Amino acid sequence: MEHNGALDSLLQEERVFRPLPQLVIEANVNPQEYDAAVRNGNDDYLSYWEDAARELDWFRKWNQVLDDSNPPFYRWFPGAKCNIVYNALDRHITTANKNKLALIWEGETGDTQKFTYYELYRAVNRFANALRSLGIKKGDRVVIYMSPLPETIIAMLAVAKIGAVHCMVFAGFSAKALRERINDAQAKLVITADGFYRNGRPINLKKVIDEAVEGCDSVDTVVVVHRANVQVEMNEPRDLWYEALVRQESPECPTEVMDANDMLFLLYSSGTTGKPKGIVHGHGGYMVGVHRSLNWVFDIKPTDIFCCTADVGWITGHSYVVYGPLMAGTTTVLYEGHPLYPQADRMWDVIAKYGVTIFYTAPTLIRMLMRFGTQYPKMHDLSTLRLLGSVGEPINPEAWVWFYKNIGRSECPIIDTWWQTETGSFIICPFPISLLKPGSVFKPLPGIEADVVDEQGNPVPPGKGGQLILKRPWPSMLLGLYKDPERYKEAYWSQVPGAYLAGDVARKDEDGYIWIQGRSDDVLNIAGHRIGTAELESALVAHRAVAEAAVIGVPDSIKGEVAKAFVILNEDYNDPEDPDELLKQLKDHIRRELGPVAVVKSIEIREKLPKTRSGKIMRRILKAEEMGEDVGDTSTLEND
Ligand code: PRX
Repeated sequence: MEHNGALDSLLQEERVFRPLPQLVIEANVNPQEYDAAVRNGNDDYLSYWEDAARELDWFRKWNQVLDDSNPPFYRWFPGAKCNIVYNALDRHITTANKNKLALIWEGETGDTQKFTYYELYRAVNRFANALRSLGIKKGDRVVIYMSPLPETIIAMLAVAKIGAVHCMVFAGFSAKALRERINDAQAKLVITADGFYRNGRPINLKKVIDEAVEGCDSVDTVVVVHRANVQVEMNEPRDLWYEALVRQESPECPTEVMDANDMLFLLYSSGTTGKPKGIVHGHGGYMVGVHRSLNWVFDIKPTDIFCCTADVGWITGHSYVVYGPLMAGTTTVLYEGHPLYPQADRMWDVIAKYGVTIFYTAPTLIRMLMRFGTQYPKMHDLSTLRLLGSVGEPINPEAWVWFYKNIGRSECPIIDTWWQTETGSFIICPFPISLLKPGSVFKPLPGIEADVVDEQGNPVPPGKGGQLILKRPWPSMLLGLYKDPERYKEAYWSQVPGAYLAGDVARKDEDGYIWIQGRSDDVLNIAGHRIGTAELESALVAHRAVAEAAVIGVPDSIKGEVAKAFVILNEDYNDPEDPDELLKQLKDHIRRELGPVAVVKSIEIREKLPKTRSGKIMRRILKAEEMGEDVGDTSTLEND
């Protein structure tokens, strides 16, 4: 089993951090309630989740909590009718939340926009009506390729409101990667912006869209939001400006009544093959998992200002920038740009300016900001903060403690949340009342049963590494993989019978705390973003100079992990005159193929790659060599 060598230091961490008494007294879930929830979640997990579902509004109640007649295609709340947007927006309009701030947006250039729930509701309705008038119907797929703008959130909600399916593609993906997703989803409409600001420069997004939709037969319309005033070519009649489109539309729009298991969104994520997995979530179960987890784990109070730094294009953005905070009726803060622009205090400035009370981010950002020392956080009043969160990759104790001391004043618990695109919402994480060990994600949430097992599916003893599995279904689980039921069964449910295989290596300690070590499959976690080694390898071999390629993850002090590639060159390219130039070309080529999200730190030219007798490249050997570790059993190697 492969794991990230840099993270072994996690295992030596023995410090324990206690919450302040005041926080425990005021918590939504106190220690007794927590224990009771864990008990209820174990004794009768269906009624535990049914209680969670009752906190939301449904158009019609379910016939049954869980239909488990066709595993692994579990269906939660069958027979129920609902729409997540009704819970995120419509229901607030008749309560005191109507005039509360739903969204605070800050552009990189310092401009801000604020929306009350009522204003956001009206904006969403206008765009929802526009989408309907463009012929978008229930079940149609709409790709959204946008930077973090208010219209990005408006677009997601408008699509879901009319029962269509949104498919967000992170703006760091290339035109080619975008096209692949548009084609797979057979999207009818694409929403984008002219450009966005990053590091002080406007980046042209429309250009990428033009290249991506070229030859995509399914796409009839491209809607473009004005943001960065970059030069764009509007290709009529396909391309339409958002502003012109919504101007005439009514601010009232009926919300589509959906079945609980109708599709809400499709989100592509890397797997072990070159083809990304289309992860499908539905309205009902997803909204229950997201709502319960945010309210309990982040202890949401009416006065909170919630800031999650994830991009809306990833699952964290879906669940905890958009749907979770809005369903909870809290205020969500969205920042457009680079966290170091114009200098390394931008995030601290955002926290101070809006009085952020809960700040949820990723270890990569913490490590990046840590490098600048404490001078920047000291420039700002961070005293409004009461909870901190971490997600996406293992957090090393050093970064944990820095965050805790310098941002959290040694008072704010750090909620390290383990979950995945597939799980939809938090799965393993502490509550604010928990005793914390830096680097551990604590224990499964009430209602969830997780374990660490060996190759045969047997639980491993404390301290020993194994595969992380989930032993029963949970409401916000994926409905499946888009158009690929076999791959869904094979990838997640075949290794340990009856259990969901997460694809992570983990350990439990003597106290039952779980420590995540990294992916166990051929997926890299670069700055919290999943990139498959197979995707990088197929991008490399698509270059005419490359005959064969193997990619491994190597530890990186900021990004957690980055890719290193080994290539065998085609004969014509052997002995290149300027190897450095060729390597630069290869890196540029990967960027063009996959986008800036795929960070390849170095490429090494080799004459041979270690392979099994059946011809499979053994990345394990390359990794061990790279890490200076024992290469282990090489008896099956072909070319030794
Ligand atoms: O390896 C785990 C890591 O991120 C993977 C899921 O990636 P993705 O679907 O992109 O979702 C990321 C945000 C939820 C997991 O399989 N991961 C996520 N959270 C943590 C983590 N690793 C360690 N600690 C975490 N808190």
